[in-house]
Amino acid sequence: MTLVRLNKHIASLGIASRREADVLISDGKIKINGKVVTEMGVKVNPDIDKVEVAGSVAKDREKLIHIALNKPKGYVCSVKATRQDPKTVVDLVDIDERIYPVGRLDKETTGLLLLTNDGTFVNAIIHPSSESEKEYEVTFPQQIPMGAIRKLEVGVKLQGTRTLPTRVKKIGPAKIRIVLKEGKNRQVRRICQKVGYPVKTLKRIRIKGLKLGDLELGEWRYLSKDEVLGLKS
Ligand code: URA
Repeated sequence: MTLVRLNKHIASLGIASRREADVLISDGKIKINGKVVTEMGVKVNPDIDKVEVAGSVAKDREKLIHIALNKPKGYVCSVKATRQDPKTVVDLVDIDERIYPVGRLDKETTGLLLLTNDGTFVNAIIHPSSESEKEYEVTFPQQIPMGAIRKLEVGVKLQGTRTLPTRVKKIGPAKIRIVLKEGKNRQVRRICQKVGYPVKTLKRIRIKGLKLGDLELGEWRYLSKDEVLGLKS
């Protein structure tokens, strides 16, 4: 079981920096499993604990930015480059405003990634209670049988917790589309591995009602007002 400091977890959700998260905690704006927590240094299990951020950081006087990017392989979903991971998704979007990714795609995963500076938008998409649908196209190095697909559909036990059921469509002998309503760390890779079929390639093609569409790898665009409203609802 991996426990993470609460301020680090909030920062990884893209809602606030670690320092801003400390202020939210001491102001009583954070709940863990329904209870307000004000002590510093509390740890959570991101796979199990429900962390809620009250009235996430308002950006009323700033320009709110909402971007869709087709993430290429080799880029990490972080705002800070490191020596080990020098390429970040934020580098692909050449604008002046500070933005951050909405949730994460693994370094080797491609496809639809949202970037923003709007905490309410982030919350509406990644908060576990939103059960936002995310759809992925998955390929395998070998054919995947219906038996394994059925197991993915009913949910898989990961570290003692059963994942929510998924919808799966087989679109080729070694290719599926899978729809998830939760976003545990590396969930698609882990559930596929668990049923005996490790993933070859993984691409996210939809978040809620928003499809990747024809954005080229590495290309990005601003979302329309209607798209933002749709994702927030
Ligand atoms: N599931 C994964 O395994 N990886 C991702 O990047 C997204 C979902």
